[in-house]
Amino acid sequence: MKFYNREKEVRFLKTYCQLEPNSILFVYGPKSSGKSTVMLRVIKELENSNIVFFYYDLRRYATPTKEEFLSIFFEKSDKKYILNKFEFDLKVFKFGIGKNYDINNKSLNDIFNKIYDGIEEVIKEGKRPVLIIDELQKLKNIYFNGGKSLLNELFNLFVHLTKVRHLCHVICLTSDTLFIEEIYQSSTLENASKYYLIDWLSKEDIKKILKEEGFLKDEIDYCINYLSLPYEISDLIENKKLGLSVEETIRQWINVEKDRIKYVIRNNLNYKDEIINILSLFKDSPTLKNDDLDDELFGTVKLLINNEILFYGVMNGIIKPTSLIEWHGIKELLKLK
Ligand SMILES: Nc1ncnc2c1ncn2[C@@H]1O[C@H](COP(=O)(O)OP(=O)(O)O)[C@@H](O)[C@H]1O
Ligand SMILES: [Mg+2]
Repeated sequence: MKFYNREKEVRFLKTYCQLEPNSILFVYGPKSSGKSTVMLRVIKELENSNIVFFYYDLRRYATPTKEEFLSIFFEKSDKKYILNKFEFDLKVFKFGIGKNYDINNKSLNDIFNKIYDGIEEVIKEGKRPVLIIDELQKLKNIYFNGGKSLLNELFNLFVHLTKVRHLCHVICLTSDTLFIEEIYQSSTLENASKYYLIDWLSKEDIKKILKEEGFLKDEIDYCINYLSLPYEISDLIENKKLGLSVEETIRQWINVEKDRIKYVIRNNLNYKDEIINILSLFKDSPTLKNDDLDDELFGTVKLLINNEILFYGVMNGIIKPTSLIEWHGIKELLKLK
């Protein structure tokens, strides 16, 4: 698979991984903007450095249970950390637990001690540990003995590892901006977290890539108003090979999104008028400032965010459709009303 651009983002994250750990980093952005791809690229480019990556991809799992969480993070071994052999082509590690260790009956503190042991071992060997959790919000509903929320406790551990002891970087990736907003408001993480947005590709970058891929000037001039995500470029190339014109592909995408929005409206008829009101705010521009939004509408905006129609960039206060195609889908739908 080709990797397009994202030089700035790769450089930022590579540098970040090599600085002294001092806060938890949340990497966020619209779904499919390329967060995981950029992170994997960074791991690959640093595979011969002295960094030991613990990378956990929770996107693969529907909603992990407590037992699944344990098996994702830990592996039975005499070593304190070992290579994750299921991630082929990627040098990433898991935390080790003794062969006879019955992890399922342990308290959260026991389990966190195992993470700590692994991290200390890496440092003792003169290397630098970096812990990365992809789609971390999936751990939201896991509770341990005594009703402790795994995620809340993990945040305490992460603050300790970064801000307090400077032992290990913790990088969390998520598309769930409402989750980011929750975190941003949380007192545990105040002054202990940083945020990095991986957003749509810029128009200049898209133009450059399309040119390199051999698209004609007319095609580029047409697409540039519709493309924003990296996978759209790959799809467009593939469809062209399959005989579909740029216009046809884009028309199909817009129709799919328009129908998806319609489906969300039909499933939330009580909010229909409000949804239409909100979508109408995007009639002329794909971006809206959170400050310009009536407070009363935010509940319904959340519904649209949860359904991945809108994206909320918590730090810049901008609400926008998840992609430019989504924006055109919204505009098509409004024409029907
Ligand atoms: N820079 C890139 N170049 C080429 N393809 C990309 C790039 N970034 C993402 N993609 C493709 O886009 C899709 C979504 O990317 P992904 O990293 O999973 O997004 P996210 O983690 O932000 O939801 C994947 O199929 C991926 O291969
Ligand atoms: Mg991802």
